Amino acid sequence: MYQVIHLSAECFPVAKVGGLGDVAGALPKYLNQAGVPSCLVMPRYNLKWNAAHVSHSVFEGVCSTEHFNIPFHIVKAAQDTLGFDLYMVDIPGILFRDQVYGYDDDAFRFIFFQQAVLHWLCSWEQKPSVLHAHDHHCGYAAFMAAHCYDFHPLRNIKTVFTIHNGLYTAPVPHDYARFFPHFPREVGGLLEWDNRIDPLATAIKCSQKVTTVSQGYLQELQQQQSSYSWLYQEYAYKSFGILNGIDTQVWDPNTDAYLTHKLSEQNWLGFKQKNKEEICKRFRFDPNLPLCVFIGRLTGEKGGDLIAPSVGEFVHQTKGMNFFLLGSGSPNLEDALRHISGVFPENVANYIGYNETLAHEMYAAADFLIMPSFVEPCGLNQMYALRYGTIPIVRSVGGLKDSVKDFGDFEGYGIRFDQGTVQDILYSLYRAKDLYYSSYTFNHVRALGIKLDFSWETAVKKYISLYYQ
Ligand code: GLC
Repeated sequence: MYQVIHLSAECFPVAKVGGLGDVAGALPKYLNQAGVPSCLVMPRYNLKWNAAHVSHSVFEGVCSTEHFNIPFHIVKAAQDTLGFDLYMVDIPGILFRDQVYGYDDDAFRFIFFQQAVLHWLCSWEQKPSVLHAHDHHCGYAAFMAAHCYDFHPLRNIKTVFTIHNGLYTAPVPHDYARFFPHFPREVGGLLEWDNRIDPLATAIKCSQKVTTVSQGYLQELQQQQSSYSWLYQEYAYKSFGILNGIDTQVWDPNTDAYLTHKLSEQNWLGFKQKNKEEICKRFRFDPNLPLCVFIGRLTGEKGGDLIAPSVGEFVHQTKGMNFFLLGSGSPNLEDALRHISGVFPENVANYIGYNETLAHEMYAAADFLIMPSFVEPCGLNQMYALRYGTIPIVRSVGGLKDSVKDFGDFEGYGIRFDQGTVQDILYSLYRAKDLYYSSYTFNHVRALGIKLDFSWETAVKKYISLYYQ
């Protein structure tokens, strides 16, 4: 039977909106490989993956509230390629929608997702030892398991909660308590934060262990001013930062199915050159110039508002670098990218949207990847980049600070800057350009990055030791 059950709203390749999907799709697999039987349960959405894959019902139940009942099914995906058993909660109309999030009733949807999971767990003869919930969509599970009368058989299950991004939560008015199964009145305070019912706060209070996806981010949460700082400080004793790994089976330049030109016989120069030439040909760029890419969401959080002004200013000052920018997000920022590509077509191109193939091709082709994030709990793109021989240029925050060392420091393999300003980014781009033209140092720095090990094995060991605690 399973020792650990993961609860997540996303899981790659079934449903991915951001990095949470990548982590949820990898962590259970690597736990299994390390000998800790693990599975994952997520909502069943009306997405492509589900249309193409068979699943069958393994449990049928009903979530009841005072006024209505919601029947649900637990289905198990009939696949054996993910590396773990995948279960989905099927509630037509409520969970089975065309998108993962973005609906007015999201708070309501995820309350019933979690309830359904717990009803199902009650029916297991041998309960899992650990319930590991990810992000606020799964933030009530620890509370419900410990306090709701219906879930009495689960009260001894240990709970771990991982914060992938503390900027997001979904507070709701107090009357949402009517959607929870009954619990003793005196524990109602555990649900509450700032006069609302708050899933992030509830999870931090009620889980036995709280983790964030890097040590640097944990410190920021504890030190920075926010309405949650007190909570992070108060529960520091049970909080840990564990840097994510990357799925080195999916992200492997030797075998990457998305790439026409794979790495062979460790010929890195050839690998980078062929991929770069191909991308440059597509966008009519001069392949002799350094190529810098951005891949990510165009939001303030990811520094998306700094991209167009910095790239525009840099190209205006020196035509000495090409930029390819891939992302989507705020319409203003998307327009800003289109605008600079229009003004500087020989040096700047963009792709508005997300495209997994193109993203892989860009990591393989680029010399530099820029991540000017304002907040970055872990960040995976800098690790994908390093693995594909691309030097990351990052702002010194959260997980970026923990995973990228400036090449000015001993054995450094990246470029770091402190301020989220156009000036600091420009300065870093000039450093990148100079580095590119001192080819001996450039190749040396790149080689240091390629050698790093960001595989899940290290992170998984830390999770296992936490589970044992
Ligand atoms: C979120 C964070 C990102 C992190 C990812 C996986 O998307 O913003 O920094 O890498 O979750 O934990």
